[in-house]
Amino acid sequence: MATPTQATPLAIHGGPKAVTLPDGERWPFVPEAAKKRINALLDAGIITIADGSGIVAEFEAAFKRLVGTKYALTMNSGTATLHSAYFAAGVGPGTEVLVPSYTWHASITPVLHCAATPVFCDIEPDTLVIAPADVARKVSSRTRAICVVHTWGNVVDMDPIMAIAKEHGLIVIEDASHAHGATYKGRPVGSIGHIGCFSMQGAKAVSGGEAGVATTDDPELFDRMVFLGHFGRGPKGEGNHTFDALGDMSLGTKYRPHPFAIALALSNLERLPELNQRRTRNYAFLNDCMRDIPGIETVEPRANCVRGGYLEFKFKVSRSVADCVSVDTLERAIATEGAPVTKDRYSNMNFTYGLLHKAPLFTTFDRRTLGGCFYDPHSYTGPSDKTVTLPVTEDVCTRLLSTLAFADVDEEYLRQIADAFRKVMTNLEQL
Ligand SMILES: Cc1ncc(COP(=O)(O)O)c(C=O)c1O
Repeated sequence: MATPTQATPLAIHGGPKAVTLPDGERWPFVPEAAKKRINALLDAGIITIADGSGIVAEFEAAFKRLVGTKYALTMNSGTATLHSAYFAAGVGPGTEVLVPSYTWHASITPVLHCAATPVFCDIEPDTLVIAPADVARKVSSRTRAICVVHTWGNVVDMDPIMAIAKEHGLIVIEDASHAHGATYKGRPVGSIGHIGCFSMQGAKAVSGGEAGVATTDDPELFDRMVFLGHFGRGPKGEGNHTFDALGDMSLGTKYRPHPFAIALALSNLERLPELNQRRTRNYAFLNDCMRDIPGIETVEPRANCVRGGYLEFKFKVSRSVADCVSVDTLERAIATEGAPVTKDRYSNMNFTYGLLHKAPLFTTFDRRTLGGCFYDPHSYTGPSDKTVTLPVTEDVCTRLLSTLAFADVDEEYLRQIADAFRKVMTNLEQL
């Protein structure tokens, strides 16, 4: 590996860029199979499916095979799957849901739509996923559910989470939106908790453009999710027929997906093993190149777990470096070297309002003023939320850098990315 000398001027000072190769990244692209499937639907005039038949049934069968659950229910977004999961879990007024703060906001905001209160938990510094010890500390008599997020494809330590849930009679919801195809001790994510929720939006590993899928082994949880948002799948459907007496009207929310999105998702699901294999190989290679760079800490997979999905690759800057140089400055310097590096989006939610447990929606804003399901007086704990501190999350999130979940690049390009990090980290005095 080329090791830049101390004297090399950084690219931000007009020096040569460390990355000279084009990235060549082609994922995501629309597979030919998706075009064929969507054209076939168009030719047959199938532009909506209410009863879960056809391409929807085909996708759900394939997803059940991947995750190993009895049920899979496609929806029009990952957010819809999370709302359905919380509703199915009996999350309601006066109840609390334990959640990580370090996640996309849609893991949490549906809790509010059930008139319940999210209670924020800390993460593990090594894996960036929810810390079971903090979950155990925050269980109260109001807790109804735990939402764990397999962030950036790294798998949550599910055994202690399930033990806490068992002890207190809680439902565990796995938000596996970043982790399609990941496993914990040989078990697919989405099958370990009571419900799995997978976004299939945009750049997700199994993408339908805009779509989601929920998984469960429990017929009643499945029925409750169907009843919330799937007019037309009711009485005839699978499950325990919990709501047969109510007919197939459902509660009126419409969460079924567009069949074209499911055709695209099915075609992407077929490529998932290849995508995961490429990303795992590339992340391991990049981590190998980065491990000896001073001031850089890699985010390694948990032992006995297979990482999947990824969405983004993450690196930590050491505390001692972050105390002297901000990640903004490092990001600028490394990006100017030609590496596709950004600050981490969730550390400052989508580059706008800081960590979620500090966001106005959960702290200063009085949600009761919104009316509707937000009115329930039990659902508002605003002022006290201001005092929530999550030491690990707040530390780690000042020192995270992000790059793409590379699937389609060669090793020389990855080596050049590591060179960009090395060049900047060994020339900090130039910043
Ligand atoms: C962790 C996580 N949960 C939930 C969602 C929401 O999914 P969707 O955008 O499909 O509604 C996302 C989307 O990015 C996500 O990253």
